[in-house]
Amino acid sequence: MKNVVLIGYMGSGKSTVGKILREKTGWLLLDSDVEIEKEQNKKISDIFKEQGEDAFRNMESEYLDKLAKMDESIILSTGGGMPMRKENADRMKKVGLVIYLRATAETIYGRLKDDTQRPLLQTGDKLTIITEMLERRNPVYESAADIIIDTDDNNLERVVNDIMELIQE
Ligand code: S3P
Repeated sequence: MKNVVLIGYMGSGKSTVGKILREKTGWLLLDSDVEIEKEQNKKISDIFKEQGEDAFRNMESEYLDKLAKMDESIILSTGGGMPMRKENADRMKKVGLVIYLRATAETIYGRLKDDTQRPLLQTGDKLTIITEMLERRNPVYESAADIIIDTDDNNLERVVNDIMELIQE
């Protein structure tokens, strides 16, 4: 069995899918945002504000390095920007099976329109930001992924069942 690495844009369902997968597999669930917040003792929004996005991206790279050395089976739920660095996309492949939870800009907007926690979505018109970022990011997510699963129908149990079939193969 392989580790599972969930990638995708903010609001694509990585955290929720990760939690259901943990229940079904008993594997350790790690959420890179949560782990970085613990390590830094700061919220992601404060890291962005005080140290900038680039510093946060470095923290993500360092975190992936640590994970590559772990022995136990894990489910990794990643921050949405992690694969945008090519070296991170390469590192993820070493950690496990990379699954892209894909959703359209409209779906994501519907899920995140009232969000106040994600620093990259707090300025300007949310739907426009999401649409433009997704256009840039989607090809990167697609090429970083071993498997792509669409989540627009919001049926996360079905998404989890698809993943369970893959990891039991
Ligand atoms: C980011 C996604 C966030 C978090 C940070 C930056 C991004 O994680 O890492 O706000 O660049 O897409 P989620 O995808 O878990 O929201």
